[in-house]
Amino acid sequence: MKALLLENIHPAAVEYLEGRGYDVDLRAGSMSEDELVAALPGVQLLGIRSNTNVTARVLDAAPDLLAVGCFCIGTNQVDLTAAAERGIGVFNAPYSNTRSVVELVIAEIIALARRLPEKTQRMHDGIWDKSAKGSHEVRGRTLGIVGYGNIGTQLSTVAEAMGMNVVFYDTADRPAHGTARRLRSLDALLAESDVVSLHVDGRPGNAGFFGAAEFAKMKPRAMFINASRGMVVDYDALRENVLSGHIAGAAVDVFPAEPKKQGDPFDSVLRGLDNVILTPHIGGSTQEAQEEIGGFVAEKLARFALEGSTALSVNLPEVQPGELTPGHRIGFLHHNVAGVLAELNAAFADAGDNVVAQHLSTRDRLGYVVTDASEPLTTEAVETLRRSEHCVWVRTW
Ligand SMILES: NC(=O)c1ccc[n+]([C@@H]2O[C@H](COP(=O)([O-])OP(=O)(O)OC[C@H]3O[C@@H](n4cnc5c(N)ncnc54)[C@H](O)[C@@H]3O)[C@@H](O)[C@H]2O)c1
Repeated sequence: MKALLLENIHPAAVEYLEGRGYDVDLRAGSMSEDELVAALPGVQLLGIRSNTNVTARVLDAAPDLLAVGCFCIGTNQVDLTAAAERGIGVFNAPYSNTRSVVELVIAEIIALARRLPEKTQRMHDGIWDKSAKGSHEVRGRTLGIVGYGNIGTQLSTVAEAMGMNVVFYDTADRPAHGTARRLRSLDALLAESDVVSLHVDGRPGNAGFFGAAEFAKMKPRAMFINASRGMVVDYDALRENVLSGHIAGAAVDVFPAEPKKQGDPFDSVLRGLDNVILTPHIGGSTQEAQEEIGGFVAEKLARFALEGSTALSVNLPEVQPGELTPGHRIGFLHHNVAGVLAELNAAFADAGDNVVAQHLSTRDRLGYVVTDASEPLTTEAVETLRRSEHCVWVRTW
């Protein structure tokens, strides 16, 4: 069993996969389409980050590939539909860097409240500017969190521990953590908050979600943070509000168009503004998050390949079977059409295999069912399913 890991994936992934019996080839760089086509025969698991594109052509040239692990958050670099059609599972790590984003935002709240960007710049310019003017403690101030999901809720807990009052607004029904207060409208949140921090997701409807009208509704001298998605905010409007003094400070980690490579030039209307922190999309970029991602995705890949679990797959129906009794499990990925489950169970009955557990899930054009039999599987049922016109693959564990 062979795993090819590209783009300097954390050693935690290597350790995990080797522990599950894989021969791991770890490379520092990414691979081009042609390089992948040449490298993938004989490889069951491929690990990438954001700089490797896995196209339909690559997948066609990878007869042994079972799964692709994106050791990052995004999965746009993989042709997910082409992978699903070929029965290749794709996995990522949607939550592993949550804490890192929260800690950056906490640091920014304090830095902006104390006007650290300006203070440190003046020191570097050789000017001693000791003054309390415009500097505040964050204790007792109100943080307004927009988008109370994985990141928003953890930020809520940590900010509260610093003595901040937390209010939040989310379009979905989210329970409050600690003493945070849920507000029923964005306007209510903007009217109350000394700091507004955006943590909404990247759904298309959120493009341009926060603009001139929303900044106008914020409290005078409030602060603004965006570490969610660049396209969510109108940065021209933010610039005007910082220049007018209505917004006292801002921290921005994400931009509508971000440079592709290390060292590429960066430009933004926010460059050069006082008390504005600009960071190159590093909210989730810490050693701890990388390690967490390494272990998380490696486990998902191995559990798919060795036990049939598709838990948290981004392109296959999600099935999380129980503990494996070797020799008793069969996984059947099939076209999502009526009657397949009856066909499957008839194959078991005809072969005299007694079913003890069965998990089915469907997603778009695919269905996936994992069945555990009471006795070791006979080859008969397996072969019957393999011959089905609706079969994408049959695997046994
Ligand atoms: N800066 C970074 O490095 C970095 C790292 C990780 C995640 N992120 C981004 O942070 C954001 C939040 O991540 P998460 O894991 O907490 O996501 P999540 O899906 O868990 O939470 C998003 C929340 O926003 C809510 N929401 C969506 N649109 C809304 C709207 N218009 N108004 C109010 N609420 C709305 C959703 O209902 C959900 O509760 C995402 O956009 C993600 O891409 C950035």
